Amino acid sequence: MLPFFFPVLDNLTGKVMNCFRKDGPQGYEFGDMLPEVVDVTNERVADTDGAVEQLLVPAAKLTKSLATILGLGSGAGDISRALSRRFPDADIYGVDYSEIAIRKAIEISKIESINNVKFLKENVTSLPADWTGKFDWVILYDVLHDLPDHVNAMKEVQRVLKDGGVVSITDPNVHSNHGDNVGDSNVAGVGYALSTVICLPCSLSIDDAAGHGIGWGTENKEKFLISSGWLVKDKRNIGSPLAVNFTCVKAENKPDESSSC
Ligand SMILES: C[S@@+](CC[C@H](N)C(=O)[O-])C[C@H]1O[C@@H](n2cnc3c(N)ncnc32)[C@H](O)[C@@H]1O
Repeated sequence: MLPFFFPVLDNLTGKVMNCFRKDGPQGYEFGDMLPEVVDVTNERVADTDGAVEQLLVPAAKLTKSLATILGLGSGAGDISRALSRRFPDADIYGVDYSEIAIRKAIEISKIESINNVKFLKENVTSLPADWTGKFDWVILYDVLHDLPDHVNAMKEVQRVLKDGGVVSITDPNVHSNHGDNVGDSNVAGVGYALSTVICLPCSLSIDDAAGHGIGWGTENKEKFLISSGWLVKDKRNIGSPLAVNFTCVKAENKPDESSSC
């Protein structure tokens, strides 16, 4: 994976160094990175059709319908286009806050005659008001650890997901206790290096930011998901040992929460 990112590492290293200056920025968003970051991100998953099949194995067991699908932080749309090939009759949306990524997604989809994916420029923390209860399946593929406001993002996922719907969250698979990653060259050599220049600055890019990046880790992420109203129904490695996928549904409302009157 790392060679894909070589062309952009020099520029990003300079940007990170600026963040350490007293008067420097606290981080930077994907939109402030080189446009080439969108391209390399879009090309890094070798088999997007295979990735969708792997996400589908646990997800399909947990929802009756897969007619409406939302990819959050969809970048230039590699996974969304694979979803379109797999579900040509579904209503699919790809959402990203990066103008460059959305333009690229639309451009590639036209070339590939992909007609059932709508790519929209939106922030995952404030999705369209009329999307409440709209989606059967929401996917965050390599996104959650990048977010500076993961709490409000997952509240939005709760809102736009149908009650019987399912969420797939795929993220790098590293331990939250950093010492447990010693000896794992994937994590130390690839994951942490890329996170330092891409994921971590993005997750630090607003006031009161989470500051997660890859180092957030699988154990702490799972604790967050459970404490914020999700049932983790399945957890498995997908694609490579670097990626873990959580398949979640909404936790049932507790009686005292649903009978406030
Ligand atoms: C590592 S990339 C993954 C892209 C895509 N899911 C894929 O796997 O090819 C993370 C994406 O999340 C998007 N993103 C980060 N924060 C976001 C936010 N607050 N709202 C919408 N998109 C966001 C970035 O612009 C970027 O395209």
